[in-house]
Amino acid sequence: MRSDANIAGPMADPVPGPRSEPGETPPPLDDTPIGRAAQQAVEAMNRAGEGLPRPEQTRIMVVANQKGGVGKTTTTVNLAASLALHGARVLVVDLDPQGNASTALGVDHHSEVPSIYDVLVESKPLSEVVQPVPDVEGLFCAPATIDLAGAEIELVSLVARESRLQRAIEAYEQPLDYILIDCPPSLGLLTVNALVAGAEVLIPIQCEYYALEGLGQLLRNVELVRGHLNPRLHISTIILTMYDGRTRLASQVAEEVRGHFGKEVLRTNIPRSVRISEAPSYGQTVLTYDPGSSGSLSYLEAAREIALRDPNAPSVEYTPQHQLQQQPHQQQQHSTIAEGTQ
Ligand SMILES: Nc1ncnc2c1ncn2[C@@H]1O[C@H](COP(=O)(O)OP(=O)(O)O)[C@@H](O)[C@H]1O
Ligand SMILES: [Mg+2]
Repeated sequence: MRSDANIAGPMADPVPGPRSEPGETPPPLDDTPIGRAAQQAVEAMNRAGEGLPRPEQTRIMVVANQKGGVGKTTTTVNLAASLALHGARVLVVDLDPQGNASTALGVDHHSEVPSIYDVLVESKPLSEVVQPVPDVEGLFCAPATIDLAGAEIELVSLVARESRLQRAIEAYEQPLDYILIDCPPSLGLLTVNALVAGAEVLIPIQCEYYALEGLGQLLRNVELVRGHLNPRLHISTIILTMYDGRTRLASQVAEEVRGHFGKEVLRTNIPRSVRISEAPSYGQTVLTYDPGSSGSLSYLEAAREIALRDPNAPSVEYTPQHQLQQQPHQQQQHSTIAEGTQ
């Protein structure tokens, strides 16, 4: 791992752009910001092209945390794009009326577009609302429109109100390796539909004070749904987001979360990165917006880790990418794209 990819600060991502004036002797390519960015982009793409084991069955992951702003949507779209770049076929189900995942994937979701609302409330087949995501092969999205805001209430009076998404997914015939469901910041019927449809819960936790507060309620809901509606459901993955390696708070939160959850916590933390937050306004994931940035590399690495943790396959030991390249036999340690500069 190049040390200059290991940056967690807001201004830290490499900004592509030539710095030398005409007539000047340009410095060696990989010493310029653009050279570094290009090199990292190549590394990122090589890594993506490696190909990872594809799951034997479709893995349905529910990205949930009833707190807003912790990185659910960001994690959903960037992990989905990373998995697709690794060669998987991936569907993102946008279950948040805000439609942020649809926006970030560049998928049309104005009020006339057939959407997940039609699937849940009008029983429209999922295949009639799924759209391919521009620029990323193998990535698809079932968009959310503003109609979904009313669905929490409309669902209440419908038959099988908790399992409408599950039924729609079961009836969907296109082969998929992963389905990632982006939940709204609440534990209402939309989130319950996701928990009934999925087998794995993926919880993004923001590395901030109060990070674990409120999680108890989510964990209880997962238990309730497991007990009554979906025995397959379990918390498979915790991902630490907006990790700022320069602060003690971030490492304290990370330690606390690892102490609490243990092996479910991914070794790869997602750094706080301006590139990650800029990408959605261009209708892109950070993977296409700035492939060589620290945010892009960390999501690719997190995707690799998730792919190697297939619950239905014999487990392949995960080794952080930089250790694979440099010290293949060394004892494994926690890896963070942001750790190198600490
Ligand atoms: N790693 C990150 N670095 C910088 N900004 C981030 C990062 N992850 C998320 N954000 C920003 O934080 C805000 C909340 O993230 P979002 O994914 O929308 O959270 P949620 O879906 O949980 O509400 C967004 O503005 C997003 O761009
Ligand atoms: Mg969101």
